[in-house]
Amino acid sequence: MAGRIPPTFVDDLLSRVDLVDLIDSRVPLKKSGREYTACCPFHDEKSPSFTVSPSKQFYHCFGCGAHGTAIGFLMEFEHLGFVEAVEELAARVGLAVPRDESSARATREGPDLLTPLQRAAEFYRQQLRTNPAASRAVDYLKGRGMSGEIAAEFGVGYAPEGWSSLIDALSREVGYPALVASGLVIEKEGGGGYDRFRDRVMFPIRDRRGRVIAFGGRILGEGKPKYLNSPETPLFHKGSELYGLFEARQALRHIERLVVVEGYMDVLALAQYGIRYAVATLGTATTERHLESLFRICSEVVFCFDGDRAGREAAWKALQVVLPQLRDGRQVRILLLPEGEDPDTLVRAEGGGAFAERLATARPLAEFFFDWLTQEVDLTSMDGRARLAALAQPHIQQVPPGVLRDLMLDRLASLTGLDSRRLGRDLKVAAAPRRLARPRGAGPLSVMAKTIAMLIQRPGLASRAEALRDIPTSGLAGLGVLFELLDLLAARPNLTTGALIEHWRGTEHFETLQRLAGHPFEVAESHWDEDFDGYLSILSGKYREARYSQLEQKARIGGLTQDEKREFFELSRYR
Ligand code: UTP
Ligand code: MN
Repeated sequence: MAGRIPPTFVDDLLSRVDLVDLIDSRVPLKKSGREYTACCPFHDEKSPSFTVSPSKQFYHCFGCGAHGTAIGFLMEFEHLGFVEAVEELAARVGLAVPRDESSARATREGPDLLTPLQRAAEFYRQQLRTNPAASRAVDYLKGRGMSGEIAAEFGVGYAPEGWSSLIDALSREVGYPALVASGLVIEKEGGGGYDRFRDRVMFPIRDRRGRVIAFGGRILGEGKPKYLNSPETPLFHKGSELYGLFEARQALRHIERLVVVEGYMDVLALAQYGIRYAVATLGTATTERHLESLFRICSEVVFCFDGDRAGREAAWKALQVVLPQLRDGRQVRILLLPEGEDPDTLVRAEGGGAFAERLATARPLAEFFFDWLTQEVDLTSMDGRARLAALAQPHIQQVPPGVLRDLMLDRLASLTGLDSRRLGRDLKVAAAPRRLARPRGAGPLSVMAKTIAMLIQRPGLASRAEALRDIPTSGLAGLGVLFELLDLLAARPNLTTGALIEHWRGTEHFETLQRLAGHPFEVAESHWDEDFDGYLSILSGKYREARYSQLEQKARIGGLTQDEKREFFELSRYR
């Protein structure tokens, strides 16, 4: 179920973590009765339907159906894996995560990639400092104006010439297969392999926790390819990582704004000139995942592109990805640099203050949007204005309903002379079906489902269900799960809803149980005891009915054993 982490540890962990605190530190909550509410972080809404129950340790959104435990929240909100989410929670409450060694071997996901990458980073760094052959690299970096402090802070290193410097240095220690698996060594077809990075300046790429997960390597001077990057590995996905994010978070206690640039050297140069909040995509276009990482940290993002055609097109492409993420409170600007400059050259030429000024006054996304579209149409003609409306609307529709979307509609109205309310109505009609399709898991529940739902939501009910235990597990659909719940609660009566559900993570029942945990019962909680008893007796009745007809059938075909006859007689008394 919980994989390599023992389930008892998860129970312990969840008994110490408070879901309300956890969520409140990311999404400010308001107390409302016994629960806490907020506008849902998983869909866009204006009035709060996201509720967090402190007693259940479970959250649920009545708008979009999102729901889960503390672990589930971190997995969804921070896009963590299960193990990462558990580690993060454990760190919060000061617990070390134990590993179940026997199952660790069974569920092992391949060789350890972190160690070779970490050791390689140390090796490259040490080469830059001590290998006389690295003097060319040192000269190159100095020639580009990079300071020693910045090089050290970002862990810049040097991969020596030769086909096997890294193999020779590390394969005994970390094992040759691990060097291949981590992308540091390229295996030849006929066997044998060679160092991927040779005679290059090395930039370690760190994940959000500072662990080296990949490298970028620059050639010294001219040549192709200019930059070589690690391949995708289980640890490294170019489309989710941002170079420099870890370093920015180390340098600044509070990040108000992040700047997205294109290159490693841009990040380092900006940092050297006091702009510590720059990150780079790794040779890929901006993705939704990038934006999620960025907006998790701050609400203002500036995208920096070259002023040439390619740069402007990249900006327009980034805009498409940004629009759906523009909830109220988030701000995006686009900075197009003078032609022929990049942040590295510009900040060195004009200094950090002037560059920061450019960032602060960069074009707001909505203005860039209209600049872009109006250059394609002739606003003096009616046709042109209609065309603008047609071009703009599908994009504006991507923006979540809110102030920004309204402002964009107003602007479109004033540019086209069309009525903004009419433009807005068109959007709402088009957007409506998507919103209606969203809530999941509606519909009436079976009695078994209601019984399980009540039990999960109020585990204290377990003691009332003992009588049901006489029924064989196969007697009714869902009984197996109900009994497992009762067993678990007999052993650990204090589990909350959230902790209870975590025992089913990774099984076919997990999603159903989560849904039941969020099922809204209409009855007041003071009536739950009697309702629960009522459900139990309906279940017993259903079982007796089913069993009675089963025995009746059997009696007709082949006759009953002595025990069955007795049972049949007992059952008939209920009828
Ligand atoms: P640029 O070609 O704009 O180079 O690549 P740059 O950042 O200005 O580099 P310097 O200043 O010449 O050293 C921008 C980014 O695109 C990726 C790298 O991530 C680089 O930082 N890139 C570029 C590659 O992955 N491979 C390449 O061959 C070139
Ligand atoms: Mn450059």
